[in-house]
Amino acid sequence: MSYPTPDHDHILKAPYRDAVYEPAEDTFLLLDALEGDASLLTSLLPRVCLEIGSGSGCALTFLSTLLGPKNAVYMATDINALCTHATLETGKRALTQIDPIRTDLVHGLRLGNPGMVDILLFNPPYVPTDPSEVGSHGIEASWAGGKEGREVLDRLLPLIHRLLSPKGIFYLVAVEENRPEDIASILQAHGVVARRKTGPEALSIWRYSKIPL
Ligand SMILES: C[S@@+](CC[C@H](N)C(=O)[O-])C[C@H]1O[C@@H](n2cnc3c(N)ncnc32)[C@H](O)[C@@H]1O
Repeated sequence: MSYPTPDHDHILKAPYRDAVYEPAEDTFLLLDALEGDASLLTSLLPRVCLEIGSGSGCALTFLSTLLGPKNAVYMATDINALCTHATLETGKRALTQIDPIRTDLVHGLRLGNPGMVDILLFNPPYVPTDPSEVGSHGIEASWAGGKEGREVLDRLLPLIHRLLSPKGIFYLVAVEENRPEDIASILQAHGVVARRKTGPEALSIWRYSKIPL
């Protein structure tokens, strides 16, 4: 079964245009990975789904279409305030209620201990840049990843195991410059990592879970 790409036309207009990341090849690769795992994801009966750095909200809304908008709680964070508005609107257009929060990664979210997140998505700012470019709250935050494109992601990695519920799954977008094998070995210390898909491109999707799936 194939699922439609969520309607996100609004981000091509003011105030979102040039301020919110427009879904691109990386986003669509993530959508493909989610679609490929559709039966696994539905069989988990996830209750809480969270996308960090939701941008347009396309990936989380796609996940809601796949799981059923009413079948889970959909939460999103982004450092860019316009992204939280864009995410809300993308969700609405697909009849999904998304609760977006403007924050740094998962700061301020009470996600329980052990974690409550059943499905976690992150397509981080992965482009290697000068470290001084990291930390913007505008469109630069979409790509500026600092050293090896890892500076934002590296702050999240130590939190993943604690964020996820026992059956939780984390999907991560990476590029070769991020040294994804190193990311995998950091995550592997706590669970199971699978490389979902690579192509001729440097992009890949990594899937982490506490238990073998
Ligand atoms: C590559 S874009 C991905 C956008 C969207 N998830 C997609 O797949 O199309 C990265 C997103 O992460 C957000 N972001 C960057 N740093 C962040 C941080 N520290 N906390 C939360 N979001 C952040 C950016 O504003 C941007 O929306």
